[in-house]
Amino acid sequence: HKVSGPASKIQCINFGGYEIDTWYAAPYPEEYSRNRVLYICEFCLKYMNSEYVAWRHKLKCPAKHPPGDEIYRDGSVSVFEVDGRKNPVYCQNLCLLAKLFLGSKTLYYDVEPFLFYVMTEYDELGCHFVGYFSKEKRPSSQNNVSCILTLPIHQRKGYGNLLIDFSYLLTRVEKKTGSPEKPLSDMGLVSYRNYWRLVLCYHLKDQNKPLSVTGWPHPISSEDVYRTNEIIDISDSTGMTADDIVSALEGLRALVRDPITGVYALRLDYAYFRSYIAKWQAKGYIRLNPECLVWTPYI
Ligand code: COA
Ligand code: NA
Repeated sequence: HKVSGPASKIQCINFGGYEIDTWYAAPYPEEYSRNRVLYICEFCLKYMNSEYVAWRHKLKCPAKHPPGDEIYRDGSVSVFEVDGRKNPVYCQNLCLLAKLFLGSKTLYYDVEPFLFYVMTEYDELGCHFVGYFSKEKRPSSQNNVSCILTLPIHQRKGYGNLLIDFSYLLTRVEKKTGSPEKPLSDMGLVSYRNYWRLVLCYHLKDQNKPLSVTGWPHPISSEDVYRTNEIIDISDSTGMTADDIVSALEGLRALVRDPITGVYALRLDYAYFRSYIAKWQAKGYIRLNPECLVWTPYI
């Protein structure tokens, strides 16, 4: 990973008792970019220049969780929905924090058109920030995620997968399909590919038709594959777009085209689906419990 650029000396953040190395520069005001360490309150995300200021802040900061509405709670895991219009300072601070770990995205101050879904883990000290994703409010947007981040100290423990799963849960409640905003980072891409593959394995392992021939008996063109009942069914039950389903099926080598007849078919390798799921479940990561969502879509 790249370190902060020449304009900024920040090399790590002090956050909730952790020192976390940063990966990219973020446009913090100049007077906050002169030190090696930036202090950030883990609850309100205020950034500070010195250990002393951070210590004083900690004594008086009333926040023990993100602002906004707690829309999901399962055991110690919660998700808060934070409106960029109602909590602009928190959301700007969140975007700046995220930029320290994001190479490309450039949203910092114009937070009003977005909702932010912040995932936390609770203990007796409060709801500790784990990660988040942002999402455009615009109902016509096809993107169900704009930016997504797991704080590096919590990465590779399944939270990214949980956040992605959560984003699709919201999309299904909205009775829509969605896809993350492009371009995705390399880490975003591997995480999404893993997620999409898992979802299709779960979906297809119970498909009892041994071979489902799309378009049968007529050969169909590759564009038509996107409109077949099989793809539409998967789309309805997962919230994934037809594009993402087709590319995930291709990644699984589950979508095959007979070169002579031109007929597309799903090749269902149940043993592979089951083993992929078993390998994932063996990691023991926290799973989403859709029943724990209390939410109505933004209007
Ligand atoms: N390298 C290889 N595989 C990875 C990976 C990595 N860095 N990150 C995720 N994966 C794959 C793995 O299969 C992983 O399972 P495993 O850890 O058991 O092998 C699976 O995805 C699930 O990963 P998970 O632990 O749920 O992801 P995460 O909590 O680490 O979060 C991101 C993933 C993308 C949110 C996180 O890497 C991140 O915040 N990156 C920086 C910001 C960013 O690039 N965001 C995306 C663009 S907007
Ligand atoms: Na892991």
